[in-house]
Amino acid sequence: MRWNTKIITIVASGLFAVSTTFSATAATTLKLSHNQDRDHPVHKSMMYMADKVKEYTDGEIKIRIYPNGQLGTQRESMELLQNGALHIAKSNASEMESFEPSYGAFNIPYIFRDRDHYYRVLEGEIGDKILSSSYDKGFVGLTYYDAGARSFYAQKAIRTPADLQGVKIRVQPSPTAVEMIKLLGGSPTPLAYGELYTALQQGVVDGAENNPTALTTARHGEVAKVFSQDEHTMIPDVLVISSKTWDKLTKEQQDAIKKAAKESMLYHKDLWTKMTNESIEKAKKSMGVEFITVEKQPFIDAVKPMHDSALKTPEIADYIRGIDALADKK
Ligand code: GCU
Repeated sequence: MRWNTKIITIVASGLFAVSTTFSATAATTLKLSHNQDRDHPVHKSMMYMADKVKEYTDGEIKIRIYPNGQLGTQRESMELLQNGALHIAKSNASEMESFEPSYGAFNIPYIFRDRDHYYRVLEGEIGDKILSSSYDKGFVGLTYYDAGARSFYAQKAIRTPADLQGVKIRVQPSPTAVEMIKLLGGSPTPLAYGELYTALQQGVVDGAENNPTALTTARHGEVAKVFSQDEHTMIPDVLVISSKTWDKLTKEQQDAIKKAAKESMLYHKDLWTKMTNESIEKAKKSMGVEFITVEKQPFIDAVKPMHDSALKTPEIADYIRGIDALADKK
């Protein structure tokens, strides 16, 4: 792990904060780390959550948000959280599978039929069970944030898996993402999100995969001009709190944080739709990005073995069956 002075300073004060039990009378400030820009919808939704937490706890708990990976990459933030040196982090289920295997269930390509299916899982029993599965690993899930569908973007169109042959695609640091690119014929390169713009610009990678907001909020549309909508995965962002922090909160404070987090998920749902559409317009009109629709079936067929093997992986098999069972329910 690489540390800069700023991270050390902020984290050192965090350590001090968690070494004392939170008092019900003095205000406590919890630090939240994430890797997106202030313009990103998830930042706005977490600001909304922070306001609600302050309101519901009568100012006892405040949340200070550090965007843009100021406190480290998603992986570093998770490690800090486990040590109790950071209170809250927003990560993505893709990276979280290395910390809690249950999150791997979200990472199987084409597991969700559509957005309604995705929400039935996130808001239902399976979603809740996964959020509460990691206390012993040092963190507790609070809620999910919609992160749309992920597709490929590069300087050329990716219309079929054959177009990925020998193409270096940046993926999130996640074994499932690496496997997916291998099955599609590409060459996977795991990198932290903050390093991706430069990697695309310098040709360290040929392309990447994400939702359309990455083109604008992280400016990837400046360095990758074709967005090929194969929509291979729908992997939610996840808001997690350190188990050490959780234990220092009163039951009332825990309930207030959970309530605020759930409300921010719903706030985010509409905001996500609106801001994704705005990002697509901006990417097309001011950044010259071309959006192309692709025939999904060849992609679906190429990654099917991942679904089959997930059904045989003990840590996630029940979740996969549960998610599949919710595909047709209305
Ligand atoms: C999404 C997600 C981030 C993640 C990023 C990535 O944008 O919201 O949490 O870091 O994908 O591809 O790394």
